[in-house]
Amino acid sequence: MQAVQNIPIELGVNIDHIATLRQARGTSYPDLIEAAFLVEEAGANAITIHLREDRRHIQDQDVYDLRKTIKTRMNLELAATDEMVKIACDVHPEDACVVPEKREELTTEGGLDVIGQFNRILKTTKTLTANDIRVSLFIEPNIEHIKRVLEIGAPVIELHTGTYANATGDAQQKELDRIIEASEFAHDQGIHVNAGHGLDYSNTTEIAQIPQMRELNIGHSIISRAIFVGISKATSQILELMHQARN
Ligand code: PXP
Repeated sequence: MQAVQNIPIELGVNIDHIATLRQARGTSYPDLIEAAFLVEEAGANAITIHLREDRRHIQDQDVYDLRKTIKTRMNLELAATDEMVKIACDVHPEDACVVPEKREELTTEGGLDVIGQFNRILKTTKTLTANDIRVSLFIEPNIEHIKRVLEIGAPVIELHTGTYANATGDAQQKELDRIIEASEFAHDQGIHVNAGHGLDYSNTTEIAQIPQMRELNIGHSIISRAIFVGISKATSQILELMHQARN
């Protein structure tokens, strides 16, 4: 294993559910631009949004509007479809995270099928990379899947932490061990390691403690806490947790 030298850990705040609230009533509020501004002011390193095929929360116009105002980095989550790749190439986010997408799911339910969908993901990665967009592939913490990512040539992975987040006791420890092993393997191969999904104020410390981890993408728990303490405090509290985990 390669030595890991003080890799700083960053936070991408997923603001999709600000749009979920807005879409619930078809109003113009809560305002995504204001949300992204406050989250950045509170210290977040990136704004993450997922333009879903069914447009259930983020709308096309949001992506273009946010592109003009985000001061940190835009991390655009997208399915590996021609429609989404075209939009990404037009909007030109700093980062694009390719995710699997099923219409009927409540949220992204697992990592990409980098074996079965190899050619489609390869084509998507090549097109985005050719447009100077840094590609991250959202995958399960699985060594075989990381080997496929190496063949595809994506520089970044985001490890799916949903199974870890939903588990308890020994099962959770086992899943954490898988995430640690996958992080070490990917880092040794020169891949940047991010993680996300289901992370909250009670389960983020263990993931942030993984020294190879570069970025956590967190949405639902931050936006939920924001209802009670405000989005600035909800963001700074998770950042504090992450930074404490590294000390
Ligand atoms: N990372 C990816 C790739 C996702 O699809 C999502 C959900 O959109 C998240 C992170 C954030 O997950 P959560 O809302 O559970 O924090």
